[in-house]
Amino acid sequence: MHFSFKIIFYVIFLINSILCYDPPKRAGHDSVIINNRLLVLAGEKNQSSYTYELFYLDLSMSFDNTNLPWTLIPDGNLPINNRFSTAIVGLDNSTIFQIGGFIINKDTLDYDFSKQVYTYDYSTSKWATPSIIGDNVPPRQQIRGVIDNSGIIYIFGGVNATNLTALTGTRYNDMNTLDTSSLTWRTLSISENLPFPCCDYSASLLPNGIIVYIGGQEDSGLTYYVLVKMKSIKLFDTKKLEWSSMNATGDDVDSRWLFSSVLTSDGYIIIFGGCSYYYFSVSPNLAILDTNKSPYEWSIPSNSKVNSPPFIYGHSSNLYFNYMIILFGYNADDQIYNSQVYIYDTTSNKWVTSFNPPVSTTTSTSTSISTRTSSSTSTRTSTHTSANTLTTSTKKSSKGLAIGLGLGISAVVVISGIFIIIFISRRKKRILRISGNQ
Ligand SMILES: *[C@@H]1O[C@H](CO)[C@@H](O)[C@H](O)[C@H]1NC(C)=O
Ligand SMILES: *[C@@H]1O[C@H](CO)[C@@H](O)[C@H](O)[C@H]1NC(C)=O
Ligand SMILES: *[C@@H]1O[C@H](CO)[C@@H](O)[C@H](O)[C@H]1NC(C)=O
Ligand SMILES: *[C@@H]1O[C@H](CO)[C@@H](O)[C@H](O)[C@H]1NC(C)=O
Ligand SMILES: *[C@@H]1O[C@H](CO)[C@@H](O)[C@H](O)[C@H]1NC(C)=O
Repeated sequence: MHFSFKIIFYVIFLINSILCYDPPKRAGHDSVIINNRLLVLAGEKNQSSYTYELFYLDLSMSFDNTNLPWTLIPDGNLPINNRFSTAIVGLDNSTIFQIGGFIINKDTLDYDFSKQVYTYDYSTSKWATPSIIGDNVPPRQQIRGVIDNSGIIYIFGGVNATNLTALTGTRYNDMNTLDTSSLTWRTLSISENLPFPCCDYSASLLPNGIIVYIGGQEDSGLTYYVLVKMKSIKLFDTKKLEWSSMNATGDDVDSRWLFSSVLTSDGYIIIFGGCSYYYFSVSPNLAILDTNKSPYEWSIPSNSKVNSPPFIYGHSSNLYFNYMIILFGYNADDQIYNSQVYIYDTTSNKWVTSFNPPVSTTTSTSTSISTRTSSSTSTRTSTHTSANTLTTSTKKSSKGLAIGLGLGISAVVVISGIFIIIFISRRKKRILRISGNQ
């Protein structure tokens, strides 16, 4: 009896370890959503080790943030190592455009900026380096791209690291576009109202065609870079190809870089995390910019301070229905790369620990409109309204199996916990090494 329990336990443990992929922790990565899958690509594992696996979090099933359905895409390995790039899904909902970043040749392990645009076809699991026509594609890092509903990707400024030892370089304020159907690159020539050269901002494309750039660091002509004030918002009109600026109102939000943002379909930009110029913590951890007001207005939901995640930066955020899902990054409180997934319910403005997939849109009365005119981390945004139906869809599977899996998973969690504790206690203080405060 006791013995057979043990066998069952070990079998379940084995199955769990095979089925549940345990992705390396990372920062400076990209994440995008395709077909209920939150795909993660690129990033650094530590200052000298990068990652090229492609894997996803399965959003078709319920999970809690201690039991994550990670799955590796075995054929999906990136052809390069990369970090601080941007990744955007094309209008076919299948092609990922990975642009810029600190690109490293996997064979020579040396920086290689000979190609700036890599594509991944989700349906065939194939990576490619398409030929791009038009203007020269400049090497850029620490950028965020957005795509409009005619398939044009917009990339503002960024850094070109010229000293690849110190990872320092020049900031830019040009606007580059990639037409994803003709694969044509254009560096727009705009001379009016040009913002200062800037990088590490967040970018959100509103349905009215305005891209909202928030935060980051900029080159304002001083001998050092400064962080952009969060109320000094840069706006780019993709219809008129014109720059303007706005002074937002509302609550005070610390300047930051290495933060993330999502755009909800009802016009709220939610920012999370990031750090100060010298990698110190910023306050508040989470803030919301209401772009329905004129001028835009910042607010800090009081509930967002309850059970808030630690101080992290270099993470990513994606919006899936009402869930803002925050992945990886560097946990500066504990001085470790973060393996936790944090989930913010944008409807109730609360941090939650479990994720329940929304009911199928075909049976749902409130149709979820996933707009693709969206978001900082280049994912689609979805309506708030569909959110209310979410909790009804928890799948009921066989109870026995669930208990078995639960036991197995707990064992995995306990054992990994022990390893993590050993790991942390042996670890020294480390920070991201990127083109930052030099
Ligand atoms: C980085 O990670 C690699 C393998 O994951 C390890 O061999 C190396 O010692 C690590 N380096 C640092 C600086 O932590
Ligand atoms: C891509 O996804 C969007 C939103 O889910 C949908 O409206 C659109 O029809 C899809 N496009 C294709 C080519 O499948
Ligand atoms: C970008 O930096 C590299 C050095 O890393 C330099 O060779 C190149 O000329 C720069 N390109 C531009 C467009 O500034
Ligand atoms: C690049 O940075 C390294 C490390 O900070 C420094 O030693 C070196 O002199 C720099 N190179 C140039 C060309 O400035
Ligand atoms: C924002 O405020 C500053 C002064 O604080 C002012 O100089 C600037 O013109 C304002 N910008 C806009 C677009 O109103």
